Amino acid sequence: MNQIPQQEIDEPVDVVVMAAGRGTRMKSSLPKVLHRLGGRALLSHVIQTAAQIGARNVVVVTGHGAAEVEQAIGSSNAAVPLQFVRQVPQLGTGHAVQQAMPVLPDDGTVLVLSGDVPLIGADTLRALLETSAGRRLALLTIEFDDPTGYGRIVRDIDGESVQAIVEHKDADEEQRAIREVYSGVMAVPARLLKDWLARLDNRNAQGEFYLTDIVKLAAIDGVPVLAKLTTDALQVAGVNSPTQLAALERAWQLRQASTLMEAGVRLADPARFDLRGTLFCEADVEIDVNCVFEGAVSLGAGVRVGANCVIANARIDTGAVIHPFTHIDGEKTGVTVGAGALVGPFARLRPGARLGADVHIGNFVEVKNSTLAAGAKANHLAYLGDATVGERVNFGAGSITANYDGANKHRTIIGDDVHIGSNCVLVAPITIAAGGTVGGGSTVTKSTEPNVLTVSRGRQVSFGDWTRPKKAPKA
Ligand code: UD1
Ligand code: CA
Repeated sequence: MNQIPQQEIDEPVDVVVMAAGRGTRMKSSLPKVLHRLGGRALLSHVIQTAAQIGARNVVVVTGHGAAEVEQAIGSSNAAVPLQFVRQVPQLGTGHAVQQAMPVLPDDGTVLVLSGDVPLIGADTLRALLETSAGRRLALLTIEFDDPTGYGRIVRDIDGESVQAIVEHKDADEEQRAIREVYSGVMAVPARLLKDWLARLDNRNAQGEFYLTDIVKLAAIDGVPVLAKLTTDALQVAGVNSPTQLAALERAWQLRQASTLMEAGVRLADPARFDLRGTLFCEADVEIDVNCVFEGAVSLGAGVRVGANCVIANARIDTGAVIHPFTHIDGEKTGVTVGAGALVGPFARLRPGARLGADVHIGNFVEVKNSTLAAGAKANHLAYLGDATVGERVNFGAGSITANYDGANKHRTIIGDDVHIGSNCVLVAPITIAAGGTVGGGSTVTKSTEPNVLTVSRGRQVSFGDWTRPKKAPKA
């Protein structure tokens, strides 16, 4: 979801993402742009949006934590034409964009984005590129009731074009009264940008090379500067602190929840719903409160998910019910839950759990790398690891497959219609052939024939001439 189809813009677009800043207010050893929103690094959101608009190049300017950022972002955005340039030391936003210029061609339009402004939308960027049209400087702006800290947009007397952006610290009282501010996003022809960047100086309140000073240079050169006003504060909201990150996370989650509800998904409470990945739902899906979905999850028609479930990398088929407090994580291998299956409460499905139709997995049952055919049941307190379980098998309470000998994993094969009693240990590798029964409390180490009863435990004996010990009388 939230994937707008990729679309090319006429002008080649080269994206520069500024991500060198320290992020002091996060008070974290993790570089700011690697903090996660909806389960993905802030910077990854920006890069994916750049990819969506068909960027020819995406150049990320790194500085603080450069190696860590490059490693994490490079590997998670393999499909994007991504390059990194380093900015050391960080002398301001103009200096940051300067670092990217040597790797960018002159014939494109440069779109400047920030790695800590994750929710900028593809449509907004397309509109800004149209405003730039290969020959103008286009600025994305927004009006704030409290514009403190932002660069103010100083317009011409006609109100049409922009004369300058004045940074808060450099602004006089009259300029500080301006409520329209620069969002940090601009589109500008590369050949003009290169020239202007070379002419920047750092004679200002912060002693930095301000990217925003190119507006004055454009005005001097007679290049039109247009401001495109947005009303969507979420799209230009930056992350500077844990509080802002959490606020943006909630807004993002609410937006995802709304999209799902518009598609017919019934969320018990959109404020208690978290999606950190992608969730595909067929008709009539119901999700109770406090569920977390991660990675890629798909829910078939009529699936119900109870309260407090965590579900990652799984496919759950038509009509299955996931009862409360169930944890499912398919990791890289995936988990599948067949149509009409019942899972939980308090069940755990791990990578490679493949449940057929109408399988029942009850409380405190763990399934890992195991296939359960249609109608198989493990309703209480059990472990199935590296097992192949036939149709209609009943796996008793407290029974486990002993799949690990301390060095290697081995498989357990259980044929159709087998009944495993309670508290059994099936020591793999082993096959319990179809129709067999294993008596409760058995430790089974040898494979069994079809349709036999296997009992492997101490024989029951009773002693009549026995008296229970009595407490010694107090001295
Ligand atoms: C900048 C704008 C301001 C605008 C605001 C919107 C300038 C001079 N000012 O101010 O007009 O209203 O954004 O949020 O551009 N960065 C680097 N290298 C540096 C400095 C910054 O990569 O040397 C990165 C930061 O990591 C951040 C982005 O550039 O992602 C913006 O920097 P920041 O310091 O937040 O700029 P502001 O002072 O907020
Ligand atoms: Ca900022």
